[in-house]
Amino acid sequence: MDILALIMRWAHILSAVTAVGGVFFIRFVLMPSAQAALSQEAHESLRAAILKRWQHIVHTCILLFLVSGFYNYLMITRHLHEDQPLYHMLFGIKFLLALAVFTLALMLSSTRSWSSAVRANARFWLAVLAFLAVAVIAMSSVMRALPHTSPSDEAPVTAQSAQQPQEV
Ligand code: HEM
Repeated sequence: MDILALIMRWAHILSAVTAVGGVFFIRFVLMPSAQAALSQEAHESLRAAILKRWQHIVHTCILLFLVSGFYNYLMITRHLHEDQPLYHMLFGIKFLLALAVFTLALMLSSTRSWSSAVRANARFWLAVLAFLAVAVIAMSSVMRALPHTSPSDEAPVTAQSAQQPQEV
């Protein structure tokens, strides 16, 4: 078993669970509840307190996504899908969508003035971010479901491969 590959896969999946789950919770639970239950002043101070903590999680998840994603692609999946342009095209599109997700996440969690226009319309942009993140996950599942074109020690034994006669 390749321990490093396993750790990278955990890092990728845990980042997805934490970051995407957090976006859905903030947009569809926390924001409407805080708006309904808190005064403007209390809402603002809660927002400032949350942003500082959420920023650390966003930065850590982006780093883990990039390190584990490139490791996964360059060291493993690229070799399993040689001569399969569809896989590599999906990877390219997924990477561009992920960059858009990272940019929006950085703008929404920043406390600086350069991205204040986006934060002023946070409800809309968080919904866009959640939609794009779901598209990235859907694309990842399609990539994962594509058949391998090159043999690998890690490839599971399928019913078809188990029935093929062994060469002597
Ligand atoms: C918004 C950011 C991202 C999300 C939510 C995301 C989510 C996921 C998920 C859920 C999987 C399936 C994991 C598994 O079953 O093992 C996956 C696989 C993968 N991801 Fe990401 N990912 C993101 C960003 C990236 C980035 C930036 C890269 C590349 C630099 C990347 C490269 C990959 C690769 C190569 C796979 C394996 C696909 C396969 O099984 O063939 N991901 N991703």
